[in-house]
Amino acid sequence: MYILGIESSCDETAVAIIERGEHSRVITEQIKSQIPLHAKYGGVVPEIASRNHYEVIDQLTTSALKQAGLTIHHIDLISLTQGPGLLGPLIIGLSFAKAIAYANKIPLVAVDHILSHIEAAFIDNPEIEYPLVSLVVSGGHTTLFYQEDKWNTQVLAKTRDDAVGEVLDKVAKFFNLGYPGGPILDKLYKGGSPDRFKFRFPKMSDGSDDFSFSGYKTAAIRQQEIDAASITPDSPILKDLIASFLNSIMDYLLFKAQWAIEKTKPRSLIVSGGVSRNTLLREKFTGAFRDSSVRLYLSSPQFCTDNASMVAWLGYEKYIKYPNINYFDLRLNAYSRALFKNSGSKFR
Ligand code: KG4
Ligand code: ZN
Repeated sequence: MYILGIESSCDETAVAIIERGEHSRVITEQIKSQIPLHAKYGGVVPEIASRNHYEVIDQLTTSALKQAGLTIHHIDLISLTQGPGLLGPLIIGLSFAKAIAYANKIPLVAVDHILSHIEAAFIDNPEIEYPLVSLVVSGGHTTLFYQEDKWNTQVLAKTRDDAVGEVLDKVAKFFNLGYPGGPILDKLYKGGSPDRFKFRFPKMSDGSDDFSFSGYKTAAIRQQEIDAASITPDSPILKDLIASFLNSIMDYLLFKAQWAIEKTKPRSLIVSGGVSRNTLLREKFTGAFRDSSVRLYLSSPQFCTDNASMVAWLGYEKYIKYPNINYFDLRLNAYSRALFKNSGSKFR
C-alpha cells in the first residue's frame, strides 16, 4: 500500500511517500524548509509561512511522485497533519490534500502533529513495546505522555510557558547567533564549561508536575558577567554560558522523563521532536538508559524535526485500526491548538 503524507503545520512543507504492508519503508521525503525566509525575523512569520506553503506544495508533491517512480493513481491513501500548528499553513495542506483526494477518489486520513512526532520513532523501530512514555520536545511543544497503546494517550506534564525549542531559539536570537537557535547552540556549546554558570531546575509554586522554561531564558540573558552587545560566537564566556544552559536544560528533561517512568512503569521511552536531535540530550538519555529495564528509543535524526514520513506512518496505522471512519468525508477542519488542555487529560 502506498501512502502520500503531507505536513504543513509550521515552517516546513513536507511531502513523503511511504510503503506499508508486507514491506514497510519510506520511499521518498521531500522537505522545503522556510528557515531562510524567517531567519531575519528570528522566528516564524505566519503570513510568510502560509504564502510559501501555497507556492511549493504542488510542485513538491509532483517531485515526490517522480522521485518514487509513481503517479497519483498508485496512491492508496493520503495522510495529512490536521493540527496543532499555524492555522493558515494547516489549511493550505488540508485544502490541497482534500482536492487531490476528491479528484482521484483516494481516502484521506487526518492525524495529530504531536502524535505523529511520537510515531516517528516507530519508522526505524517497529518493535517498540507499549505501554510507553514519550517526551515530545520541539519548537512548539514540551510534553510528556503516557500511552497504554497507540490510541490511548494521557498527558503527564506539559510546559506552562515556552516550549524548550522556543527558549533555545529565543536565547540564540538574544545573542544574535542566528535562527533557528537549537542547532546553532548545539554546535557552539562544544568546548564550553557546563559548570561555570548555575541554572536551577524550575520549581512550581503550586506543586504542579508541569514543565516551565521561561526562567531558563531569563537566567541566560541576564547574566551580569556577560555583555551581550560585545559578545561574538567565539567568545569563551559565551561557550561556557551555552554549555551550562544546555547542560541544565537536558538534565531537567532527563529528570522529568525519569519521574514519568517512576510514576507509570512503562516498557519503553520515546524521545522525539526537533530538540531530540540535540547532541547533549542524546548523550545524556543514552547514558542514563543504557542498563535500564525501560528501553529508550530516540527518533532517527531525519525524523526528529517536522517531516511527512511520520504523518504518513501514523495515517496508515489509523486507517487500519479504524476502518469504519468515513475517509471520504471532506468536512475535515484544521485545528490550531493541542487537543489536550491540561496535564491529566486523555485524548486520541
Ligand atoms: O519538531 P520541529 O521541527 O518543529 C516543531 O514542531 O516545533 O522542532 C523545531 C525545534 C526548533 O526550536 C529548533 O531550534 C529545534 O527544534 N532543534 C534543535 C536541534 N535541531 C532542531 N534543538 C536543539 N538541538 C538541535 N540539534
Ligand atoms: Zn513538529
